[in-house]
Amino acid sequence: MITLTRKDTLFLLFVLVAAGLAAWSASNALANKKILIKFPHSVSINTPKGQGAEKFRELVAARLGTRVEVEVYPSASLMTDDASIEALAFGEIQMIAVPASKLDRLTKKFQVFDLPFLFDDTEAVERFQASPVGRNLLTVLESKGLHGLAFWHNGMKQFGGPKPLLLPEDAVGLKFRIMESDVLQAQILAVGGNPQKMPFAEVYQALQTGAVDAQENTYSNLYSSRFYEVQDYIVETNHGFVSYILVTNMKFWTDLPDDVRSELDEIIAETSHFVNSRAKAMNDIAKQKILDSGQSELLNLTPAQRLAWQKAMAPVWEQFRGDIGEDVMAAAIAAGQSSRDTGATQE
Ligand code: LMR
Repeated sequence: MITLTRKDTLFLLFVLVAAGLAAWSASNALANKKILIKFPHSVSINTPKGQGAEKFRELVAARLGTRVEVEVYPSASLMTDDASIEALAFGEIQMIAVPASKLDRLTKKFQVFDLPFLFDDTEAVERFQASPVGRNLLTVLESKGLHGLAFWHNGMKQFGGPKPLLLPEDAVGLKFRIMESDVLQAQILAVGGNPQKMPFAEVYQALQTGAVDAQENTYSNLYSSRFYEVQDYIVETNHGFVSYILVTNMKFWTDLPDDVRSELDEIIAETSHFVNSRAKAMNDIAKQKILDSGQSELLNLTPAQRLAWQKAMAPVWEQFRGDIGEDVMAAAIAAGQSSRDTGATQE
């Protein structure tokens, strides 16, 4: 049997109390540790998404500053969109807002946003996203451990190139940079172009060196990433829409304290309204700045030229209808229909 001297007993007591205090302070520190939301994205701050991410960070700091911290990494400063989708799934980051186009490897349903000439304007996209089928799209990533939080707008896409792309035949043989999307690949192939999937951060240099000849994007991206400097012509085709899906990691989200999660829900609703109510104006301002620069000639299509593009790309709808699903197709066409000149609809 071990007999402890009085000195040994006091020392043992001291060790036990110190260990208890250390455990308490560690757990207390853990309980008081701020929840970190890492939010990388690929575009500059002066874009609808860039402003949205900053607004989200500011509102969280103002209302949850003692408990939650948001770190925004614009312009792919932390990682590319592609890498961010994987990092989110592994819980290495906590929030992203990527174009629906880039999620086609997780679900084919978001491809609806890439179908050429389906949505004529932002209002048509909003009608679809507000529909029961549209709202339900935010739940389709849950089987992948991700949770869709909101739709954020950018805007309508235009084509840029080394010559006036007024008719589909003008695209033949040109190398087009596209986002990582099979629908966008099919739309370029449909007009005889050569689609090149490429991260956003590489596009400027690829256009400058001639690695690619042409690309499609919104005015806010064409301006903020200076693509207009290396594209002699931009044609206002309004042939597609860049819609972002704001996504978080499901385990991160469900593990949050209830009061933090409900406050973040309110902040996200407010931020989404902030983004979506400003997106079109931001794109209009960017378009005017490109015009004022004189560095790229802005062209419009005649109705006949637009119809020619629509007809050339029409087979893409049928090619992906099965993947996207009849319910999503019907809801999107119905939403787009009411703002489209019925003389040019695609059935
Ligand atoms: C792109 O790659 O063209 C887009 O991701 C840019 C954006 O708006 O996120």
